[in-house]
Amino acid sequence: MRLVEHAGLAALHLLDPETAHGLSLRALCWGLVPLPGAVTTPRLRTRLAGLDLPNPVGLAAGYDKNAEAVGPLTRAGFGFVEIGAATPLPQPGNPRPRLFRLPEDRAVINRFGFNNDGAGAIAARLARAGRRVPVGINLGANKASADRAADFARVLATAGPHVDFATVNVSSPNTERLRDLQGKAALAALLAGVIATRDGLARPVPVFLKIAPDLTEAELEDVAEVASASGIDGVIATNTTLSREGLKSRHRAEAGGLSGTPLFARSTRVLARLSLLTDGRLPLIGVGGIASADDAWEKIRAGASAVQLYTAMVYRGLSLVADIARGLDARLAREGFANVAEAVGSGREEWL
Ligand SMILES: Cc1cc2nc3c(=O)[nH]c(=O)nc-3n(C[C@H](O)[C@H](O)[C@H](O)COP(=O)(O)O)c2cc1C
Repeated sequence: MRLVEHAGLAALHLLDPETAHGLSLRALCWGLVPLPGAVTTPRLRTRLAGLDLPNPVGLAAGYDKNAEAVGPLTRAGFGFVEIGAATPLPQPGNPRPRLFRLPEDRAVINRFGFNNDGAGAIAARLARAGRRVPVGINLGANKASADRAADFARVLATAGPHVDFATVNVSSPNTERLRDLQGKAALAALLAGVIATRDGLARPVPVFLKIAPDLTEAELEDVAEVASASGIDGVIATNTTLSREGLKSRHRAEAGGLSGTPLFARSTRVLARLSLLTDGRLPLIGVGGIASADDAWEKIRAGASAVQLYTAMVYRGLSLVADIARGLDARLAREGFANVAEAVGSGREEWL
């Protein structure tokens, strides 16, 4: 099976990355990809902001922006799946090309700019999809919106009834000035609107805030303060970076957000800082450059209650997900932890 996966990946990498991405989604929907089901053991079972996860390894936002493969993705080994970003109205995003592989760096640069079918179409697909593990929606804002802050609540109002959690994404580098919404006053107002909408849902869902890895220490302190006071249920650290440190690949100077291995240390440091600043009061989800069980383990040691990944799958395929979950289980056993929760933050000092 691994051989078939390697051959499939090699063939996909001959294509332009966005075409390859679309084909990988089709292959999932057509049943061409083996799906192990969610990997789970008593050690891996994780409670995150009221959600019961079979394991703490999630799919990060941006892979299935339009909820086209929700069913298969919830049987692919992940403990939870994030769909989107969705914006209130459909929008085309930036002109192509807008996705670049950096193979020598095990990284990707993207500047999609929230291309998506719009919250209505995405909510309709989510409503029809079977959800074997918790599924969330990544909330975004339309580029041309007159009130971007209000867009997040609008998407939540539309898609909220069909998901198990939602993420406020004010950290994408690909919509100009979006990250200004991470500032103290703007963020507090935005989160208040989203929480009010959430509280009005028939089945209120946990709301997470996703932050950029490029915040200064002072900005991070502000985010921690606002997040703690706002009534949100957790923070996802982090989105892609604008940094281009130490890259070798041909496309290293492309504009957009960088993800994958070169993001790992930077995002893990932000996670550990945030864990210290929030003192374990807010659950944290660690994302950025995870490509192995050891990487996932480091995120948990740095303060993450759960993790997400995307870019490593571009290079290693979907079978990586089950490998990471099983590897984590073995690591927990070896280190003498009865579950993930016991290990959260156990190595935080090393990342500060
Ligand atoms: C092609 C692509 C599209 C993405 N789209 C989104 C998005 O719509 N919303 C979001 O919050 N993050 C988005 N991300 C960021 C990922 O969710 C994740 O935070 C980041 O890639 C770091 O994780 P990784 O190194 O495992 O990929 C995107 C990433 C990539 C590579």
